Amino acid sequence: MKKLSLKLGIIFFITLFCIETFMMFFLHVSLTNSRLEEELTNLQTTGNSHRTILEQNFDEETLAHILLMESKENTDVVITDHAGTILAASSVHPEIQVYLKKLGGSVPYSGRVLEKNWQDEKYIATISPIVKQQKPVGYVFMFQNTDSIHALMERLNKHFLIVGLVSGLVTIVVIIVLSRKLAQPLMAMKEATMKMNKGDFTVALSTNGKDELSDLAHAIQQLSDDLNHLREERKEFLSSIAHELRTPITFIKGYTDILYKRDLTEQDRQKYLSIIIEETNRLSRLIQDLFDLAKMDENAFVINKECLQLDEFVTSIEAKLNPAFQEKEIHFFVQCEKGLTLMADSARLEQIILNLLNNALTYCSSGDATYLMVKRHHHLIKIIVKDTGKGIPKKELPYIFERFYRVEKSRTRAHGGSGLGLAIVRELVHAHGGEVTVMSEENKGTTFELLFKG
Ligand SMILES: Nc1ncnc2c1ncn2[C@@H]1O[C@H](COP(=O)(O)OP(=O)(O)O)[C@@H](O)[C@H]1O
Ligand SMILES: [Mg+2]
Repeated sequence: MKKLSLKLGIIFFITLFCIETFMMFFLHVSLTNSRLEEELTNLQTTGNSHRTILEQNFDEETLAHILLMESKENTDVVITDHAGTILAASSVHPEIQVYLKKLGGSVPYSGRVLEKNWQDEKYIATISPIVKQQKPVGYVFMFQNTDSIHALMERLNKHFLIVGLVSGLVTIVVIIVLSRKLAQPLMAMKEATMKMNKGDFTVALSTNGKDELSDLAHAIQQLSDDLNHLREERKEFLSSIAHELRTPITFIKGYTDILYKRDLTEQDRQKYLSIIIEETNRLSRLIQDLFDLAKMDENAFVINKECLQLDEFVTSIEAKLNPAFQEKEIHFFVQCEKGLTLMADSARLEQIILNLLNNALTYCSSGDATYLMVKRHHHLIKIIVKDTGKGIPKKELPYIFERFYRVEKSRTRAHGGSGLGLAIVRELVHAHGGEVTVMSEENKGTTFELLFKG
């Protein structure tokens, strides 16, 4: 943060400093110039008015009168004749001859500024010609001491310095506050990402606001939440796998020990052996399911689509499952619109439907009914697996497609389920570009609907 806010601060400061310096310089120059103009205009006006009086009465008395008028001011007046001979002067000004030479004889009637370099010269000066019958008969020189302008400039400079210092200080304070404020969220984000880098995903960034920085903070927060969720999911997934594997292995180990150590009747031996075989089957099913899911996660799963005649396909499934439904005394109805075809991987589609029908078989009791229906739905193919079994509680519905999710944890295990069936169904349906939805009411039944592009 130090570095970024320092960088931002320096950039701000240099920019503002340049702007302020330029503005102050401009103001200073224009103030000085307008003041000088004003002084020169006054001086010229005074000279011109003396000239007007002299044009009317160009005599000793008038000259004396003019000298008297100027005696108290910080201005001086010098009156010369046409050749430059001084007729009257309120103080001595030898520069007059130099000025006269420079003029070359022609001075406009409105007069002229002779000297305006107030910085280096002791005086600023103007000249006004005295004209009688169209002929110049003399000149009125006006001089003004530059001390007053110097004093004014000194005061002005002092004020400029104070204003400059104050505004410089205010600028620095504002810049420090601003650049900190700008750099602070960036710093917080950097710390958050470093925390995430170390595996701690419990970051809490302030994401109020609608600017780009808040967007970034929001994105980082989202990333950390997602990573946290993923980690939790992985933890849960691993412990579920461990749990699922441990149970059958405990059974197998226990019964193998019994078989190995004890003298048993042939009947008991058969019983224990069949339990071992059942548990081994369960294990291998579980491992196959996990393997399928892992392949789907890696996108290494190949779907070989072919054109399936759906009525043939459904009839073969019916033939496979009929005995199982009959054994449990569940009515099994199959219905398929004639002539429907679907581009799908037949083995995978069978896996999907068998998983759903196996669930129906598991969660129905004798006397219930299960339906498998295939029909056209606009341009889509709709496959419905519906049962009148025990249903799923409303609050559990959103989770049933999650891996290892079972509604009644202990009971369903007795049915041989591991909670992976619906997760596989969903992945496979998605891999076919389809959608799966579920509707269920407790004690009334469950309906799964699959929609595929035909
Ligand atoms: N047809 C159904 N009727 C009632 N409950 C169902 C049905 N299908 C799925 N379920 C519920 O959804 C859960 C998840 O199903 P599934 O992923 O196939 O796992 P399982 O291995 O337990 O069958 C099951 O444990 C069950 O509680
Ligand atoms: Mg199942």
